[in-house]
Amino acid sequence: MTSRVLMVLVTLVGCIQAADKYWDYIVVGAGPGGLQMGHFLQNAGRNYVLLERNSVVASFFQKYPRHDKLISINKRHTGKKNTEFNLRHDWNSLLSDDKSLLFRHYSKLFFPQRVQLLDYMADYQKKLGINVQFHTEVSNIRKETNATTNKTVFLMDDQNGNTLKCKVLIVASGLSKPVEPTFEGREFTENYSNVSINPDDYEGKAVLILGRGNSAFELAESIYGSTNFIHMIGRSRARLSWATHYVGDLRAVNVALLDTYQLKSLDAVAEATIDKAEIKLVKVGDRLKIETLETSRYPALEKYDNNGLRYIYDKCIVCFGFQFDDSIFNSSLHITSEGREDKFPLIGYDYQLRDVEDLYIAGGASHGPDYRKSAGGFIHGFRYTARALHRMLEWKYEGVPWPSISILSIDLLATIIKRINEGSGFYQMFGMLGDVMAIRSSGEEIEYLEEVPVNLLDRLSEITGHSYDEVIVLILQYGANYSGPDKDVFRTDRASGQPDIAYKSNFLHPVFFHYRHLPTAEQMRLKKTHETLPRPDHLHHILEDFLTLWDAPKNHHLPLRRFLETVLDRDLRTFYASDCFEMAMLHQMVPLYCQQHYLSGRGIIRAEPHFQQS
Ligand SMILES: *[C@@H]1O[C@H](CO)[C@@H](O)[C@H](O)[C@H]1NC(C)=O
Ligand SMILES: *[C@@H]1O[C@H](CO)[C@@H](O)[C@H](O)[C@H]1NC(C)=O
Ligand SMILES: *[C@@H]1O[C@H](CO)[C@@H](O)[C@H](O)[C@H]1NC(C)=O
Ligand SMILES: *[C@@H]1O[C@H](CO)[C@@H](O)[C@H](O)[C@H]1NC(C)=O
Ligand SMILES: *[C@@H]1O[C@H](CO)[C@@H](O)[C@H](O)[C@H]1NC(C)=O
Ligand SMILES: *[C@@H]1O[C@H](CO)[C@@H](O)[C@H](O)[C@H]1NC(C)=O
Repeated sequence: MTSRVLMVLVTLVGCIQAADKYWDYIVVGAGPGGLQMGHFLQNAGRNYVLLERNSVVASFFQKYPRHDKLISINKRHTGKKNTEFNLRHDWNSLLSDDKSLLFRHYSKLFFPQRVQLLDYMADYQKKLGINVQFHTEVSNIRKETNATTNKTVFLMDDQNGNTLKCKVLIVASGLSKPVEPTFEGREFTENYSNVSINPDDYEGKAVLILGRGNSAFELAESIYGSTNFIHMIGRSRARLSWATHYVGDLRAVNVALLDTYQLKSLDAVAEATIDKAEIKLVKVGDRLKIETLETSRYPALEKYDNNGLRYIYDKCIVCFGFQFDDSIFNSSLHITSEGREDKFPLIGYDYQLRDVEDLYIAGGASHGPDYRKSAGGFIHGFRYTARALHRMLEWKYEGVPWPSISILSIDLLATIIKRINEGSGFYQMFGMLGDVMAIRSSGEEIEYLEEVPVNLLDRLSEITGHSYDEVIVLILQYGANYSGPDKDVFRTDRASGQPDIAYKSNFLHPVFFHYRHLPTAEQMRLKKTHETLPRPDHLHHILEDFLTLWDAPKNHHLPLRRFLETVLDRDLRTFYASDCFEMAMLHQMVPLYCQQHYLSGRGIIRAEPHFQQS
């Protein structure tokens, strides 16, 4: 009786509450990606909310990684005080102007604990006043067009039957769903998400681990001292991140098992396609055996009695990582996925869903466009792509153009040198975000934009709100011949030391692309996979540097100045005031530096030239 009354009451309250709520921007998920977006929306004074199903922010880290240790580095010391530079080596902080919100204050560990990240994220939300509505689980996201106004809104339901509405939807729910391989015998396996992490449970056991990413190695690392041995099966050869420069590949901190494999200490690693019924697990008593294993590498292995995986295992554990959960969308939105196991939603370089206008992805799930290329799947990458997304949203929906500064072309060299030595966004998101220098007034002035998604170069005017034609694009990139799981990255000729072979630089280094006219959509589309951008009118590499410090007047700055002089068709040398006046007395024309700094009255008068003259 009482419970019936209660139920009626609850229903009534539900009815009263079930009013439509509207925000201009809804961000789904209050993990790192959502919080970063939230901060930018808050700063811009937008009408927004973050909807979070749990009671805390970044709740994924309440459980994962299972073994507690993050693999994002917490480099607290660089010997420098420059906060922008230091972000190049801080992989856990989100962006803000609050210096107390740097992760270095939250942990002394180089590989921090997940609880420390939870503390940090909670403070980030509170201190910056990011508007989060907790305990709100959204579902059935759909789109509706108002017949009178012809405007579209997104609608979604929460678990209490409320309808929530917004104009722009940003989904930052991360990769939250474990990837589920299907094969015969799957029911006999255990899962990364809830397998025991107590080494005592593996004492004297033979363990088979399926999957070979960081989660698989993390597990192996923690138990291999207790086991008889561990066998690991992955789809492709081990991809070490030091060889591929991709932080999502196997990190050195997790690879002790490769040692014990190569030193013949019983552990071993093999390649096979696990999905699509190429593997079958059968029970042998209460233990497990791989019955068939057919791959192109080992044709019909079962024919041979020396099959490497003929052993009988005590446990088999699946560690396949995570994928985007698209179950929150109504099927009418036609969300499509890409990548292996459809890990990521299919989005463009503007982070908008390919098939759904006004719907964007931020955070870990926005990694599709730079998967295996850059760091967009990780905090130290997506904090910048979220900023780029926010800048695009500001222009598209609020009419606020992409921030830019205007500089005299004589100051361009100094500006660039400062940027290449401290800028963090294009350092972390190498090959994806780049600075754009638009050449104005036939080379007199430069409009400088930071960290633009360079794959949108053909749409530059459309995404930034400035109209451009002639530009120089600055990105950082690794040498094309260098990266790859099968490359010897420690070979003796791995680094270049002379400026005439700067284009052969293997390590991260600045590259400049000059276009007299912005590339067309067609040219962007036709670029080869190894090309970052279409063929420019001029190309310049700055020589890589052992210290990652591009401060050498002769080998770094002089070639850059020559490049800029060619592009701008200007003399960019700097002079003392006295020399300028002397030249003005003796010659009809004086160099640009003298014009812009001393004679026109437009520039900033400097007492000293900022670079050495050649
Ligand atoms: C999708 O929307 C339609 C129409 O509103 C509804 O009938 C259907 O149940 C929704 N599907 C899901 C999965 O919510
Ligand atoms: C459509 O928009 C008009 C004007 O804003 C509003 O009065 C009307 O209620 C809307 N219709 C629906 C179905 O939401
Ligand atoms: C409504 O908007 C769509 C797309 O923005 C456009 O194609 C269509 O012509 C518009 N309809 C009316 C009645 O304005
Ligand atoms: C692991 O996941 C699979 C698929 O969801 C399930 O069948 C199996 O029972 C799980 N194993 C354990 C031990 O939880
Ligand atoms: C682990 O989770 C799976 C679902 O993913 C569930 O079926 C299974 O019962 C859980 N196992 C344990 C030991 O909690
Ligand atoms: C890359 O390697 C290829 C083949 O070995 C070679 O022809 C090419 O010159 C190399 N490129 C650079 C930039 O070193």
